[in-house]
Amino acid sequence: MSDFEIRTLRTDEHRAASDLFRDTVHVRPATDAEWARSGLTYQPGGAIGAFDPELIGTARFFDAELTVPGGARVPMAGVTGVGVRADRTRRGVLRALMAAQLEEFAARGVVCANLLASEAGIYGRFGYGLATRIRTYTVDRARARLRPDAPVGGEIELLDADRAWERLPGVYDRIGRRPGTMSRPEVLWRLYEAQCRRREQPMKAVVHHGPDGLDGFATYFVEGMQAHPWTKSLEVPDLFAATPAAFAGLWRFLLGVDLVDRVVAEERPLDEPIELLLDDHRRLLENRIGDEHWIRLVDVPKALGAREYGPGEPVVVEVVDPQLPANNGTYRISPDGAERVDAPAALRLDVTTLGMLYLGFWRPSALAGVGRIEVRDPAAAVAADVLFGTRTVPWSGSHF
Ligand SMILES: CC(C)(COP(=O)(O)OP(=O)(O)OC[C@H]1O[C@@H](n2cnc3c(N)ncnc32)[C@H](O)[C@@H]1OP(=O)(O)O)[C@@H](O)C(=O)NCCC(=O)NCCS
Repeated sequence: MSDFEIRTLRTDEHRAASDLFRDTVHVRPATDAEWARSGLTYQPGGAIGAFDPELIGTARFFDAELTVPGGARVPMAGVTGVGVRADRTRRGVLRALMAAQLEEFAARGVVCANLLASEAGIYGRFGYGLATRIRTYTVDRARARLRPDAPVGGEIELLDADRAWERLPGVYDRIGRRPGTMSRPEVLWRLYEAQCRRREQPMKAVVHHGPDGLDGFATYFVEGMQAHPWTKSLEVPDLFAATPAAFAGLWRFLLGVDLVDRVVAEERPLDEPIELLLDDHRRLLENRIGDEHWIRLVDVPKALGAREYGPGEPVVVEVVDPQLPANNGTYRISPDGAERVDAPAALRLDVTTLGMLYLGFWRPSALAGVGRIEVRDPAAAVAADVLFGTRTVPWSGSHF
């Protein structure tokens, strides 16, 4: 174990932290021109570093809000840029960075912290549970047709990249409200802009005008494929639609773009009805499931109190949180809400597992079935499925 100190980085240290992080994920440092953009994605005061005395590890966060089941929004920290120098790994640096972050989140009133993990084995031990999953699918553009009875109406407007960065934040604020989605602060839009401008192909964007105003948008790139320069793939990193008509309208447009053979929609919600929109669902060529957000409930009483619950019998659960003991305790969950109680628990689980079921993605009985929840009353696991279940599959749609 080497000695190191953890502290908040000054703004003039952000670039060194970025270089270090990029090196840990095997990416070259940002050029001056790239840093002019990506430096703006660092929230002042949001990055920490480990020093021994050189900078050997870093992590950062930005403030946002998470939409929870029922539609309320809670203060959230988006954790990213986590890396430890290759010659200083496995000696507790990440553990110390995570502890420092959690302490800060608790002090500043953050209710939950979210991240996307490079590897599945890292963050569970710090209380992060996998809370949403995604699929990336490919549509055979040349042969795919929308069903003749697919919703129609609305207008598509094409934007170039400059106009897109001005207009998309406002459109997103109106429509990005499914459980699991989050507000996108300016630092996040800056991050997307920096990533898109690094790409060789220009980004395009479309917005959908519905009967009540703007109700959808998509961004896309058309990539040439090296072996077959005329076989083009249209990639869609971002698509939000507030209504079925906006969803159909955006897909009608994307499938109509010329000189494209396949459309790849990235990191989509699992319940998105693309198969049902096509007249032949086998025009969906590839369907890959992946992990999306991991959630760490920092303030369990506030988190449980903020979301809504399904109908049925109340359930008392005991939550165990070794890192933030203020969360330890028993909570009564009912259709009317959640409250701390002094009563025997029917289910016992750690804060990581609570993060997994908080947004409604995993069923408590499934988590109990694999040993993640200790069941003292079998009926309680079934009741918890209904209480924690959600009508739509939770999804963030924001990658950072
Ligand atoms: C992942 C990374 C940050 C870990 O840093 P580290 O300083 O080596 O981690 P620590 O020594 O504090 O390890 C803490 C615990 O996590 C475990 N751990 C660390 N990295 C792990 C990994 N990649 N997979 C599984 N477990 C891991 C350690 O074994 C240790 O376990 P313990 O519970 O027995 O104590 C570092 O290896 C790294 O920078 N990797 C490349 C970049 C990356 O993937 N960053 C994460 C982006 S989301």
